[in-house]
Amino acid sequence: MVLEGLRRLEYRGYDSAGVAVLTDQGIEARKKSGKLANLINVIEEEPLSASLTGIGHTRWATHGGPTDQNAHPHLADSGNLAVIHNGIIENFAEIKQELLAKGHTFLSETDTEVAAVLLGDIYRGEGAQDLTKSLQIASRKLEGAFTLLAVHRDHPGVVVASRRNSPLVVGLGENENFLGSDVSGFIDFTRRAVELGQDQIVTITPDAHEITDFFGQPAEGKEFTVDWDAAAAEKGGFDSFMAKEIHDQPAAVADTLLGRADAEGRLTLDELRIDPEELKGISKIIVLACGTSAYAGSVAKYAIESWCRIPVEVELSHEFRYREPIVDEKTLIVSISQSGETMDTLMAVRYAKEQGAKTLSICNTNGSTIPRESDAVLYTHAGPEIAVASTKAFLAQITATYILGLYLAHLRGNLFTGQIKDILADLGKIPAKIQDILDRGDEIKDLAVSMAENQSVLFLGRHVGYPVAMEGALKLKEIAYIHAEGFAAGELKHGPIALIDDGQPVFVVVPSPRGRDSLHAKVVSNIQEVRARGAKTLVIAEEGDEAVKQYAEFVFYVPETPTLLMPLLATVPLQIFACELATAKGFDVDQPRNLAKSVTVE
Ligand code: AGP
Repeated sequence: MVLEGLRRLEYRGYDSAGVAVLTDQGIEARKKSGKLANLINVIEEEPLSASLTGIGHTRWATHGGPTDQNAHPHLADSGNLAVIHNGIIENFAEIKQELLAKGHTFLSETDTEVAAVLLGDIYRGEGAQDLTKSLQIASRKLEGAFTLLAVHRDHPGVVVASRRNSPLVVGLGENENFLGSDVSGFIDFTRRAVELGQDQIVTITPDAHEITDFFGQPAEGKEFTVDWDAAAAEKGGFDSFMAKEIHDQPAAVADTLLGRADAEGRLTLDELRIDPEELKGISKIIVLACGTSAYAGSVAKYAIESWCRIPVEVELSHEFRYREPIVDEKTLIVSISQSGETMDTLMAVRYAKEQGAKTLSICNTNGSTIPRESDAVLYTHAGPEIAVASTKAFLAQITATYILGLYLAHLRGNLFTGQIKDILADLGKIPAKIQDILDRGDEIKDLAVSMAENQSVLFLGRHVGYPVAMEGALKLKEIAYIHAEGFAAGELKHGPIALIDDGQPVFVVVPSPRGRDSLHAKVVSNIQEVRARGAKTLVIAEEGDEAVKQYAEFVFYVPETPTLLMPLLATVPLQIFACELATAKGFDVDQPRNLAKSVTVE
């Protein structure tokens, strides 16, 4: 049954899988890197004993590559305890040091094993061998995002689970109960579910479930009946993975920020194998990427040049190595890739390495080829992105480039800690601001449905709004098959304005009126230019910007934020627009024609 549940979750993308069962002889666990078939092979070679209690996990690697050892479950307490985990434990390193000092040992690189060993240590100590109480104590010590499940040899028939910032639902069956990160794992067995709230613990047995908070006080979850079919359940109830992933973006940004900066604005980057002294000495940055990832690089150019005063060139990977670029040991190559397997970008990175450059990979897929071949890695934590059209990975990439820029600015003394703290504080508010936009998505949906028959849409932006305009156009091209083109707003009068005729839809991404006034005024005059020639002006502007109203057929307001961070907000309505318009046209939003999720050919 556990394996069936894991099969239901395969759609999400993962890089290892494992199960543990509770038998009279104790815990039996099997785990394997790669797909579920690999795990099934292992189990066929070494069968598990029959059991009514088990846990299973498909892992998307964050801390530690996709290896057998790093796969879940992780065992502790001399093999009597098995733990699986979704999320990112932010303070795992310091807890690991404390446990090592107490004589504990570790087999993997994962934050999950730290949680398992911590739970086992508490179970034998202050938890007094009460599994639920031990998990309550352990959960109070953990920071970050986690859904933890645990079984222990001493407690047959019992599974305990803890939830903070990651999802956890209970499935209530007849003489059997289930736990899952979403209902798709148990929807074949029951449609009665209870969603756990923040900082809650649940203890389930075949015929009961009990919920408490992290201090042992009784608590309640949210009961509901699943009325989705299994396919819809995989998409979290959304019509498409793309729609689900657009709504995953607050978490994607928050998780990418998680654990990278402390309250004092000090930054730590994972797997940075470049000597900070070398980073101080770089003379330029070249971003290598393709498609949406290249637009993330274009946003990064504005931020990193502003914060670090280092020249940043943004290159399409497939053009880079054919133009004899100027690259040396003082060049930092920053590749940006969701998949980490884009052949154009991989070949460009290899070429740059041959020229002596240092290479840093910003990637969403742990252990993929590009980060493996790079000197340093900064992983985005957007989670698996299933839809071919990139959305949450894009926002996570931008977030990661901001973190890199702030790290370099601090290292090179361009920004003071206080300035970095302020920028990080503004970044920390972004997830809630994205959620505010998502909550108003119907405004955009109505516009999209009304425009389903349009055959051409133009997008204008200036400064960081320019790559946003380019990305908005790409989204519409790749999933709604509509001719869409992004322009730098200032470029319009140099030719493209000839395209404007009566009723031509033009999206305009307007910068904050609180920013450099010239930027805002210039873009407002661009709106007037196209409107005067008959354009249908569709404006993305900052809340409170009254100046745009008089020139706009449609305005969608995004919460205010500093100009350099605005792409994390202004992109979202354009993603929704493309997704809703393509859905209205009945297209396969997740698997558009002619496209692949990872372009592994040059
Ligand atoms: C994005 O919506 C597209 N699917 C495509 O442009 C993609 O961004 C590009 O192929 C790069 O892929 P990567 O990020 O995996 O390297």
